[in-house]
Amino acid sequence: MRKRILELLRENGQEPLSGEDISKKLNITRTAVWKHIQALKSEGYEIESLQKRGYILRRIPDRLFPQEIASCLKTKWLGRNICYQEKVDSTNNFAKKLANDGCKDGLLVVAEEQGAGKGRLSRGWISPYAKGIWFSVVLKPPFLPQEASKCTLLAAVAVVKAVNNIKGVKAAIKWPNDILLNGRKMVGILTEMNAEFGHINYVVIGIGINTHASGSDYPPEVRDLAVSVADAARSPFRRVELLAAVLKNMEELYELAVEQGFAFVFDEWRKYSCTLGEKVKVIAPERTYLGTAVDIDSDGLLLVKTNDGHLERVVAGDVSIRPAKTVKGVYQ
Ligand code: BTN
Repeated sequence: MRKRILELLRENGQEPLSGEDISKKLNITRTAVWKHIQALKSEGYEIESLQKRGYILRRIPDRLFPQEIASCLKTKWLGRNICYQEKVDSTNNFAKKLANDGCKDGLLVVAEEQGAGKGRLSRGWISPYAKGIWFSVVLKPPFLPQEASKCTLLAAVAVVKAVNNIKGVKAAIKWPNDILLNGRKMVGILTEMNAEFGHINYVVIGIGINTHASGSDYPPEVRDLAVSVADAARSPFRRVELLAAVLKNMEELYELAVEQGFAFVFDEWRKYSCTLGEKVKVIAPERTYLGTAVDIDSDGLLLVKTNDGHLERVVAGDVSIRPAKTVKGVYQ
């Protein structure tokens, strides 16, 4: 009901809408309307009450409430079911629980804060309250399990395109799926899978977009490595709109990948890469080596021409670009 009242107020713009009109349209009492308005105010909505004229929605809070996401979402199915948590340990863990309980394909779990956000390679992920978009989506792809990691590259393309639509932001993808701005990390992606032999039960793609965290939000050792969207943005942006744009891109790329394979996704990935063409240091589980990143292969694995002339596929491990450089690819 609260969602419907908000919709009516939104539709009415800056014109007052009377309690009586709302009560008639929604078939509830005027007291019930008043109670819902009070509840919305307590959630941070600024609603002005003009005597004898009605209510005007003046300001929407900067929260990732489902009704706010839904109001700007343009997807068909991705993110159409939303589980909003003000605080959670990890949206990936929460999404996995819901997936194990049989949630729908395309479920979105989003939080204002994570107490134990997870990063790649067993690292943590700092996720302060309302300073980022910390979210996970559950997908049930028809691919084989060995293809799941390609979804991570797909997610990186979806995010980089969305953030780069914000004036002033020119981010790029570091293989496989970090999104960097001037060599500093702005977005991390962690994909987890539940599969059986030859069949994926579900994939959880967890994405952390640092929109506003800075300085004291981070421990000293990572402070210089992180950057936020707001640091680069030259115009204000709303977190819900950025999230909706990522989901829209992701849905389009995913549907294309299901129908035609990942070639298009990989071409897009190449355009936004800041790894290809760069000198890199590869820390693989068994050895560390230097070389030049030349391409990704049809599995999305990085191909590195080593300094002694061999071509290596990077299957696992960490790749660092040396020396740290500004973005390449589409911005070269
Ligand atoms: C990395 O770069 O190491 C990956 C970081 C992934 C962070 C996101 S935030 C939302 C989701 N939930 C988590 O616990 N992790 C991912």
